[in-house]
Amino acid sequence: MEFYDVIKSRWSVRSFDDRKVEQDKIDRILNVARTAPTAKNMQPVRILCAVSDNALEKLNSISPCIYNAPLVFIVCSDNSACWTSPQGKSRGEMDASIAATHIMLAAANEGLGSCWVCMFDPQKLSKEFGLAENIVPQCLIVVGYPSSNAKPADRHFDRLPLSETVKYV
Ligand SMILES: Cc1cc2nc3c(=O)[nH]c(=O)nc-3n(C[C@H](O)[C@H](O)[C@H](O)COP(=O)(O)O)c2cc1C
Repeated sequence: MEFYDVIKSRWSVRSFDDRKVEQDKIDRILNVARTAPTAKNMQPVRILCAVSDNALEKLNSISPCIYNAPLVFIVCSDNSACWTSPQGKSRGEMDASIAATHIMLAAANEGLGSCWVCMFDPQKLSKEFGLAENIVPQCLIVVGYPSSNAKPADRHFDRLPLSETVKYV
C-alpha cells in the first residue's frame, strides 16, 4: 500500500474475528519493528508475541482490552539496555512506542486491524509471563482480522486542526 493510504486506512479495531494471522505476516511485521530507531541505537525493545490459547487467556485476565484478538504483541523495554539522558531520563518507553507504532502501521499495510492498549496490569503481566525485573511491559498491540461488524469509534474522526497543535517559531 502507498504510505499515506496506510496512514488513512488505520483505525483502532476493537472487535476481531477468529481467523488466525498468517506467520509470514507476523514475520514481516516483526521485521518492521526490528528496524525502528532507538535512542543511540541501544535497541532495548523486547517483544513477546502471544498467539497460543494459553498466552491469550492470560492476557484476557490482565487487560479488558484484548477484544478477542488472535495475536497480541507485548512491547517491552529492557531497562538495563536503554539509553538514559544526562538528566537521568530513561528512553525505553519512547523506544518501545516507536516500535509499537511501526507494528500498528505494518499491520495496517498487511490488511490487518490493530489497537494500541495501555489498559493492563503491568505487574500481573510480568508475573504471568515470568518477565525479569529489567523487562518493562510498555504497551500491548492487539492485532487480527476485523470482525464484520467492526467499525471506527466516533473519536477516530475527531482530530484537532493543525492550527491548534502546531506553531511555527
Ligand atoms: C498510548 C495509547 C494508549 C491507548 N490505550 C488504549 C486502551 O487501553 N484501550 C483501547 O481500547 N484503546 C486504547 N488506545 C486507542 C485510542 O483510544 C485511539 O487510538 C484513539 O481514540 C484514536 O482513535 P483511532 O485509533 O481509531 O484513530 C490507546 C492509544 C494510544 C496511542
